Amino acid sequence: MNVLLAGGAGYIGSHTCVELLNAGHDVIVADNFSNSCPEAIKRVEEITGKKVPLYEADVCKKDAVDKIFAENKIDAVIHFAGLKAVGESCEKPVMYYRNNIDSTLTLLEAMKKYGVNNFIFSSSATVYGTPKTVPLVETMPTGSPTNPYGWTKLMMEQILTDTAKANPEMSVVLLRYFNPIGAHESGRIGEDPNGIPNNLMPYITQVAAGRLPQLGVFGDDYPTHDGTGVRDYIHVVDLAKGHVKAIEYSANHKGTEVFNLGTGTGYSVLDIVKAFIKVNKIDIPYVIKPRRAGDIAECYADASKAEKILGWKAEKSLEDMCYDSWNWQSHNVNGYK
Ligand code: NAD
Ligand code: UFG
Repeated sequence: MNVLLAGGAGYIGSHTCVELLNAGHDVIVADNFSNSCPEAIKRVEEITGKKVPLYEADVCKKDAVDKIFAENKIDAVIHFAGLKAVGESCEKPVMYYRNNIDSTLTLLEAMKKYGVNNFIFSSSATVYGTPKTVPLVETMPTGSPTNPYGWTKLMMEQILTDTAKANPEMSVVLLRYFNPIGAHESGRIGEDPNGIPNNLMPYITQVAAGRLPQLGVFGDDYPTHDGTGVRDYIHVVDLAKGHVKAIEYSANHKGTEVFNLGTGTGYSVLDIVKAFIKVNKIDIPYVIKPRRAGDIAECYADASKAEKILGWKAEKSLEDMCYDSWNWQSHNVNGYK
């Protein structure tokens, strides 16, 4: 299939490019580089030995998106192009609603105009809100997200569901990601956050690289096995492979379907720190800090639906995730710069 990856130069998008190309699909990338750079796509070409058509484009802009659809035969769209920093979304909600929702609407309008009916969406476990029980199953009600970023995801799920309802030819696949970490085994592409990282693994790798002095562990009094927050960390390459399965599924599917993409296993902050130290033989100094506002104690997936219907299951271990995260960071101390 010919797949347009909106936001395809980013962390998950670049890894998905590699897996789609490896699986024999063709990709076109559109990105405004607000949180990425063209170098990531150069490296995707280097890893796969294939050319990737790349458009520098804001996918909120009708003309820019129209040009891409007019110049390419597109079978499906994967929409990664979102702003994703939870804290920033509380400070700049309008910017988040504008970018995340406009990009979705603009892509849907172009798809309608050009008769493209397959849409894969980067949603998030955040749509479940504060879980009453774990593991999280797709049939559980979505909750009230604790921040504007989460609300954009929930709103976009609704917009896409309504759009598929109105167009019986359309296939919408909502992928609810849990916590992607790790990097491609080549160490050539990986996560390259702007400024001080908000997320756990890039913070750890920057401490390991000497860019930051120590990790702050946000709370050790949660009702979890060691008191620190538990999440479902998933290797980004496994997550990328989930998109290949979703694209192939959508070719013979109509309507809206939602899948959790996680491993089904929860690890605490200290489990991650200890595994990272053991695998990479580098000390990670840390200090216990107060809980971070908006954090939940525990969140992990029931990933059985994706296995049953998509034939997809995460295969990589926590050790792989720690090894590959450090392999990327240690070979690219300042990311792509
Ligand atoms: P990322 O920031 O690395 O990638 C997003 C890409 O979209 C970036 O390259 C950015 O430049 C681009 N972009 C943003 N707005 C755009 C616009 N208007 N036009 C064109 N390009 C635009 O983030 P990621 O971690 O790869 O996440 C990809 C998607 O998955 C996002 O929608 C994110 O919300 C979602 N998600 C991520 C996580 C996570 O922990 N990384 C978890 C759940 C969901
Ligand atoms: N943590 C620390 N110190 C840090 C960073 C994080 O202790 O410096 C802890 C957090 O308190 C939490 C765990 O590490 O217990 C994971 O935190 P992350 O910030 O890495 O991830 P979150 O689970 O908070 O959120 C991520 C994405 C969201 C997404 C969510 C569910 O950032 O966008 O996963 O997919 F919605």
